[in-house]
Amino acid sequence: MAAAGVGLAFYYNLEKEKRAERVTAVETVTTGKASLGGPWVLVDHDGRPVTNATYKGQFTFLYFGFSYCPDICPSELVKIGKVMDELTKRNKSRTTSTCPIQTLFISVDPNRDTIAQLRHYAQDFHPEIRYLTGTREQIAVATRAYRVYFSKANENVDEEDDYLVDHSIVFYLLSPEGEFLDFFTQRTQVVDIVEKIEKRRKEWMKEQQVGTST
Ligand code: NI
Repeated sequence: MAAAGVGLAFYYNLEKEKRAERVTAVETVTTGKASLGGPWVLVDHDGRPVTNATYKGQFTFLYFGFSYCPDICPSELVKIGKVMDELTKRNKSRTTSTCPIQTLFISVDPNRDTIAQLRHYAQDFHPEIRYLTGTREQIAVATRAYRVYFSKANENVDEEDDYLVDHSIVFYLLSPEGEFLDFFTQRTQVVDIVEKIEKRRKEWMKEQQVGTST
């Protein structure tokens, strides 16, 4: 593929003190697609063990956050719900009525984001979004694979269960093969995400028709 060597600048927004602070270009990926992703093992909000392989076969959104996040994560989940609804609507006029993309929310706060907590949290957002958690080590593996930054914001707070987590705010778009295709930031609008995905989907379908192997 000719995409090797293409540099992508990642703009991460970090949450701090309940305010969103923009941090520019925390990281620059210079080695192309292959540098993002990798195997991970977690558990979903129904308690089922899942891995990166579980979700192959469909385009996937990957988002890392935590359910106690006061505003950024909820608004990003609402936004992606709108994207899913729009894609479902467009898909309906084709053949099926299901959303052609799945969304995975991976917790960066395993201490509080238990399966029960995530199941409760899921009620507030698009019903097709899946929520994943795991042990601290399992989450470290997944975040490292996608170069996601997260850190307990108010480390010196006495209460063990009252803290914020700074984290990267980015939606990754993965192909049905699980390969990184694109990313969207907090600033990317619903309509732009929808258009980009539609374009990627068309390209992918064309590739399937042209492709000889795999
Ligand atoms: Ni958040």
